[in-house]
Amino acid sequence: MFYTTRNIAASSSSSTMKNFIAAAALAALAGSATAQTFTKCNPLEKDCPADPALGTEHTWGFNSSSTLDSTIWNMSTGAITYTNDAAQFTISKVNESTLLESNFYIFFGVVESWVKMATGGGIVSSVVLESDDLDEIDWEWVGSNTNEVQSNFFGKGNTTTYDRGGTHHVPNADTEWHNYTTYWASDRLEWWIDGNMTRRVYYTDKLALGGKNYPQTPSKVKISNWPAGLESASQGTIEWAGGLVDYSKAPFTMSVQRIRVQDFHTGKEYSYGDRTGDFSSIKVVE
Ligand SMILES: *[C@@H]1O[C@H](CO)[C@@H](O)[C@H](O)[C@H]1NC(C)=O
Ligand SMILES: *[C@@H]1O[C@H](CO)[C@@H](O)[C@H](O)[C@H]1NC(C)=O
Ligand SMILES: *[C@@H]1O[C@H](CO)[C@@H](O)[C@H](O)[C@H]1NC(C)=O
Ligand SMILES: *[C@@H]1O[C@H](CO)[C@@H](O)[C@H](O)[C@H]1NC(C)=O
Ligand SMILES: *[C@@H]1O[C@H](CO)[C@@H](O)[C@H](O)[C@H]1NC(C)=O
Ligand SMILES: *[C@@H]1O[C@H](CO)[C@@H](O)[C@H](O)[C@H]1NC(C)=O
Repeated sequence: MFYTTRNIAASSSSSTMKNFIAAAALAALAGSATAQTFTKCNPLEKDCPADPALGTEHTWGFNSSSTLDSTIWNMSTGAITYTNDAAQFTISKVNESTLLESNFYIFFGVVESWVKMATGGGIVSSVVLESDDLDEIDWEWVGSNTNEVQSNFFGKGNTTTYDRGGTHHVPNADTEWHNYTTYWASDRLEWWIDGNMTRRVYYTDKLALGGKNYPQTPSKVKISNWPAGLESASQGTIEWAGGLVDYSKAPFTMSVQRIRVQDFHTGKEYSYGDRTGDFSSIKVVE
């Protein structure tokens, strides 16, 4: 995983960015990039603490701090403010970014998010599922295009190629609430917008390397509005992000109205039984 600054490492959960860097400017960055992973403990390398499970289904209204209990949701970077119908993730000046992470994990399941993306070149809104061994499932909104959302997925932090991303039409993603739902099972992964399935990937697909690049380990939900178009980023990242952030146009605000999360397992916690990262190795503690 390649991030250009610690600040971005702390704020972003996007492998898309890593991919662009890998694809477009790895050589140029070799001297300056801080290679970072976004996991505190990678279970493919060593024994890690078990992951607390959600183990149920729950909907969080994001309009009040009281619904975002800090034992359940952790504001890792930045701060959010509340309106009467949403939480606002705002970047108002240089070096600011926001990241809200669930403390819980789901082991396959559904994430339904109601989002209005932030606008502005270089600004990326995201709702991501990410596991301790860097499996990842993304929704990403690039601030320069308010009629599109991107889908992406990664297995075990493998960012050697950039060929898994998808782009999907969605009208007025900055001013209208839409229902972005990820359906994630052991055999298939689906992205739904307002009740329409816009993309499906099977575990056995070539694109998922016959399962090797298929997300399949317990994952957290991460919600972020972050600046991708920074001078310190690679050219590829800046282009993907729709240019450099123009801070004279700040603030840039992403709004999240609510999130429904369903865990397909009902356990108390999840742990890795070996170093394979295969779903069959995950132990569910009841
Ligand atoms: C929670 O967020 C704080 C910063 O507000 C950070 O220091 C801490 O590492 C985060 N905890 C987890 C479990 O991510
Ligand atoms: C949050 O939304 C709920 C349901 O729509 C509503 O009943 C409640 O009054 C709202 N809370 C605030 C602080 O606006
Ligand atoms: C932003 O962060 C970079 C890297 O840490 C630092 O060099 C720069 O001074 C910061 N800019 C501001 C305005 O804080
Ligand atoms: C990473 O993904 C690429 C592209 O799909 C694949 O060629 C490569 O074998 C993968 N690496 C591992 C370690 O699975
Ligand atoms: C959001 O979309 C998902 C997937 O189509 C659907 O199951 C869910 O019922 C939708 N939510 C609402 C509130 O309509
Ligand atoms: C979902 O499908 C319906 C029926 O085809 C269509 O009218 C609607 O525009 C679609 N919504 C999106 C967001 O694509």
